[in-house]
Amino acid sequence: MTVRIGLVGCGHIGFVHSYTLLQLIRHGLVDAEVRDTYDVDPSRADAFAAPHGARPAPSLAALLDDVDAVWVCTWTAAHLEVVTAAAERGLAVFCEKPLGPNLADCERVASSLAGVPHQVGLVLRHAPVFRELAERVADPATGRPLAAVFRDDQYFPNQGMYASDWRSDARRAGGGTLIEHSIHDVDILRWLLGDPILVQASVASRFAHPGIDDVAAVTFTFPDGAVATLTSVWHQILTRGSTRRLEVFCEDALLWLDDDLVGPLHVETSAGATTIPTEPPPWVQRLDPPPVLARAVAEYAPPTKAFLDALAAGSDPVGEPDAATALAAHRLVDAAYRSATTGEAVMPTPR
Ligand SMILES: NC(=O)c1ccc[n+]([C@@H]2O[C@H](COP(=O)([O-])OP(=O)(O)OC[C@H]3O[C@@H](n4cnc5c(N)ncnc54)[C@H](O)[C@@H]3O)[C@@H](O)[C@H]2O)c1
Repeated sequence: MTVRIGLVGCGHIGFVHSYTLLQLIRHGLVDAEVRDTYDVDPSRADAFAAPHGARPAPSLAALLDDVDAVWVCTWTAAHLEVVTAAAERGLAVFCEKPLGPNLADCERVASSLAGVPHQVGLVLRHAPVFRELAERVADPATGRPLAAVFRDDQYFPNQGMYASDWRSDARRAGGGTLIEHSIHDVDILRWLLGDPILVQASVASRFAHPGIDDVAAVTFTFPDGAVATLTSVWHQILTRGSTRRLEVFCEDALLWLDDDLVGPLHVETSAGATTIPTEPPPWVQRLDPPPVLARAVAEYAPPTKAFLDALAAGSDPVGEPDAATALAAHRLVDAAYRSATTGEAVMPTPR
């Protein structure tokens, strides 16, 4: 069955999804069509509809009436409205991260998603280098994890390719680098190390957007005494792309990466140091995006295809990661913001 898709929110990430879907459909890698587009700015919906031969829908309701699955790519504060309306109609939903701007909204979004086939846009879980890392950290031969050091930096994303202002508006974004960008990192740390028992954080807003942290440092303590630290920064080095570096120290191996998509993964053990190449699935080579879009398509094509394949197979599929997994990361982000406010370590809210 061809999955009929509605794309809601036609901005930066909406374009990445739109183009990735176009590529997957054109190359016969998924059985889907983008049928409708919708944005509160109708000119954006028009522009996104054209390459798909889709309809720019006159309203959200009109879009929802016409599709099987909805891609939610609005700014964060609007996710709740769109996800709720889609889930009430029983439609499948791909919801971008963060789920919402605060924990209460995230809980509502997650609860709506739980009732329908869905997947959340925490796409690093599909990145080859993180998959390889997770597999090796889980391997008993690596020994127990001891500590992780995660550094994430990006230029302040209200400029350049992120040419919109909502990321400096706490009402729509919920916060700054910690929730907006590093929700990915918190999810990865949970994936690798499990649920921490204690979260201690400090944040700062150096660029003076109220409620928008651009410097954040968080320490997570795990039940067995392992510790992870996350430093997340929004700077003004516009020539520098979004970059992540992660080191994981285990009893019998140090594992690290400097590239958050293709890697490679570096591993040092008592037997010496090795570099492990990690590549996207071979079918990604069949796609032919222009060089400027190649990395984004390589990043989004695997999670998109995984979700559409699951939908095509039927049986109420839930993609990876699901809403419960995303919500667990949000609980940790919420604990970090609470810790930053009080100056005390916080025990995260149990699930
Ligand atoms: N997975 C990732 O790595 C990743 C990367 C970038 C952005 N995102 C997330 O995607 C979302 C969008 O980010 P962006 O950079 O594309 O923002 P953007 O400003 O470029 O685009 C957002 C679009 O949503 C539209 N919109 C707002 N409210 C709407 C509503 N109620 N109905 C329809 N359209 C509405 C706006 O008009 C705008 O066109 C955010 O939640 C962001 O955190 C995720």
